[in-house]
Amino acid sequence: MITNALYYGDNLEVLRKHIPDESIDLIYLDPPFNSQATYNVLFKEPSGELSAAQLRAFSDTWHWDTTAEQTFREIVEKGPPQVAKMMAALREFIGGNDMMAYLVMMTVRLVEMRRVLKATGSLYLHCDPTASHYLKIVMDTIFGNQNFRNEIVWRRTGAHNKGRRLAPIHDSVLFYTKTDKYVWRTQTRPYMLGHVKEFFVTDGEDYRTNYFGNVLTGSGKRKGESGKPWRGFDPTAKGRHWAIPKRLLGEANEDFTGLGQHEKLDRLYELGYIKIVPGEAWPIYEHRIRPTDGQPTGDIWAFQPYTGGTVFGTNKGIDEDVRWLSTRDKERLGYQTQKPPTWPSPS
Ligand SMILES: C[S@@+](CC[C@H](N)C(=O)[O-])C[C@H]1O[C@@H](n2cnc3c(N)ncnc32)[C@H](O)[C@@H]1O
Repeated sequence: MITNALYYGDNLEVLRKHIPDESIDLIYLDPPFNSQATYNVLFKEPSGELSAAQLRAFSDTWHWDTTAEQTFREIVEKGPPQVAKMMAALREFIGGNDMMAYLVMMTVRLVEMRRVLKATGSLYLHCDPTASHYLKIVMDTIFGNQNFRNEIVWRRTGAHNKGRRLAPIHDSVLFYTKTDKYVWRTQTRPYMLGHVKEFFVTDGEDYRTNYFGNVLTGSGKRKGESGKPWRGFDPTAKGRHWAIPKRLLGEANEDFTGLGQHEKLDRLYELGYIKIVPGEAWPIYEHRIRPTDGQPTGDIWAFQPYTGGTVFGTNKGIDEDVRWLSTRDKERLGYQTQKPPTWPSPS
């Protein structure tokens, strides 16, 4: 397979002709949402003419026509049995209409995408509430509901007046993996300045925790390893045992599963979270906030305008890396679904 290649054309054909089984690590797809918009702004032939084929492929309007019927038959007769059953049931329920035509178009492609993903691979499907509920049924059937990981809510605009209902301002990104052996690297988002001021102390420059004494222990003696001395500190002598709070382990942003209390203490010591001060009764848990620290990234990505300066260590606002483009932004191309250039932003 060629790598770092851009294929220009219908992705169904590209997937079937060019992409081998189990060869892809990650798929992000941002297909038409079935929200009746046309996305043809950028697709002109070199002559300046609009290409008829491109216009067909890139217009976000779907109709139940012979192609939809034919693709539906293909899925029902030759697709994976569960997918065939689900599509037949959906057709019964939804009928042969525009929504069904859209779902047929998506299903046949998503089956191919599952085929090309490696067992360790992930897929992020960008959509919006117009069809996300149906797409989730489709995805649950193709990938297995046990492989559903997140629905990310991505705030895409400031306001959207639709009258007599709440402003629809978010998209959804459905995150599925092929198996439970998927590659995952936890990402963090920076702390809010208010959080840091409330939970950390400052010596003028840095902010640090001020947990002293027995924060790494729990009350009561224990027989096992957690009752044994660590680096000269004997918890049993003080009627306590080693019990490192999950909250503190979480700050280190490491996988501590399977480690004993002494091994966890060793690791925290190596990472600089635990200090040993001669004369102190206990080791001291101390954590100075670094720019890379933060809370694990959540499933709501929502830029909040006018919050500049509220994010610790930056002069940025909340979720600025997913900021939508204003009419004044130079990079704005006039394309309705344009995304920020760095996604997510480098830390
Ligand atoms: C919602 S837009 C997203 C575009 C882009 N990712 C962005 O952020 O602006 C949907 C895109 O899917 C493309 N598209 C639609 N049908 C396609 C197909 N069968 N094969 C490949 N691309 C297709 C359209 O050209 C359009 O650019």
